[in-house]
Amino acid sequence: MSGRILIAYISRKGSTAEIARAVGKELEAAGYAVDVADMKTVTSLTGYDAVIIGAPLYMGRMVRDVGKFVGHHREQLVALPVAAFAVGIAPVSKEAGSVEYGMKKLHSSLTPLKPVATTLFAGRLDPTQMSFISRKMMEMAKIPSGDFRDWNAIASWAQTLPGLLRVGSITG
Ligand SMILES: Cc1cc2nc3c(=O)[nH]c(=O)nc-3n(C[C@H](O)[C@H](O)[C@H](O)COP(=O)(O)O)c2cc1C
Repeated sequence: MSGRILIAYISRKGSTAEIARAVGKELEAAGYAVDVADMKTVTSLTGYDAVIIGAPLYMGRMVRDVGKFVGHHREQLVALPVAAFAVGIAPVSKEAGSVEYGMKKLHSSLTPLKPVATTLFAGRLDPTQMSFISRKMMEMAKIPSGDFRDWNAIASWAQTLPGLLRVGSITG
């Protein structure tokens, strides 16, 4: 094992991209060679020992790019250890069951993969980045706006990955 990990993310407003980079930093600190890339730019998984997929929830579902990425790289992905994280407002929403719902959506977007670790991180909702309609919808649904990303929780999750992905580090 060469200890090479790909973090393939998709992000509309940048918050998932920043989480992907934070996860990458933790793995680099643990001795891995990490590439953090927009999943739309990934053409091959050759050379990677593990893949981490990160994507946001929008309108009650994972962005479609995840299913496309999984479908496109399915053959290689099923043979690799995979972990995944979703990003959304669900963890700070007052609606009961929204985290469970988000996790269900994450898992179904990854089918047929069997990830070794999955989680849902609180994201960022910035009204200035939203369309008028999105802003009104968020107000009507009483969804809170702000940056809810918990960098300690993100770092802690990333630190569990080496043991779960079972990839040897390049520094041994
Ligand atoms: C129009 C819109 C719809 C959203 N729908 C959901 C949702 O269904 N569930 C959820 O947990 N978060 C939802 N969110 C919150 C986003 O997942 C959150 O803002 C995330 O951090 C966005 O990631 P990005 O900055 O990488 O695009 C929504 C945000 C917007 C603007």
